[in-house]
Amino acid sequence: MIKIKSTREIEAMRRASRIVAEVLRQLEQMIRPGVTTAALDKKAEQIIRKAGAEPAFLGYHNYPASICTSINEEVVHGIPGLRRLKEGDIISIDVGVRLKGYYGDAAATFAVGGISPAAARLIDVTRRSLEEAIKAMQVGSRLSDLSHAVQSYVEANKFSVVRNFVGHGIGAEMHEDPQLPNFGDPGRGPVLQQGIVLAIEPMVNAGGWEVEVLTDRWTVITKDRGLSAHFEHTVALGAAGPEILTLL
Ligand code: MF3
Ligand code: CO
Repeated sequence: MIKIKSTREIEAMRRASRIVAEVLRQLEQMIRPGVTTAALDKKAEQIIRKAGAEPAFLGYHNYPASICTSINEEVVHGIPGLRRLKEGDIISIDVGVRLKGYYGDAAATFAVGGISPAAARLIDVTRRSLEEAIKAMQVGSRLSDLSHAVQSYVEANKFSVVRNFVGHGIGAEMHEDPQLPNFGDPGRGPVLQQGIVLAIEPMVNAGGWEVEVLTDRWTVITKDRGLSAHFEHTVALGAAGPEILTLL
């Protein structure tokens, strides 16, 4: 069941989401060769708690950290630790916050120093595929129009979309209905109405779409060990169209 949000609920989600955006902004400034992913996690938790909020991922199905840090062939759900970033890496950082009972969720992929043109293009195409999905999020459009927008943009650029993980409704829970795949035919699924809030999150692989999970039971990697990127925004559908909540 899709829970349509009131103006008041969307305002609560805007506040949670702004903290998410602030965390991503500050972590981006820390990214350089030699920094550990644990240091990024610690900083994120500090910012979130100082804002009077809670890290949404910490303890979620026993997840052990406040953020996910996924490097190079890691797709999503990489666990922060003592690994140090090195020049040429790409790192996806995913952040979730709960404030006064409402959630915000966003992710972005960043370059560590100078990266290959191929890696830069992957990041660019993934970011733009999210923008395409957001543009497709209009009152009266169908949910799978967003899925199709991501897939067609990504595949036109010769990359592939991950099939095993999806975007999602978000609100008083981090994961609500509906599930939002990043692939599919247009014109299917529920008709979007004002007050729906979605976490839209394309995961894009440079090679094939297939993934596997490491023995830590969290970290998802590409089967072919090619690079992967991930962007996510929490987006509310208002009268005037989509509003990205996870912005400053
Ligand atoms: N942004 C991810 C999602 O929407 C974050 C979940 S990571 C977890 O599913 F650690 F919390 F599981
Ligand atoms: Co999400």
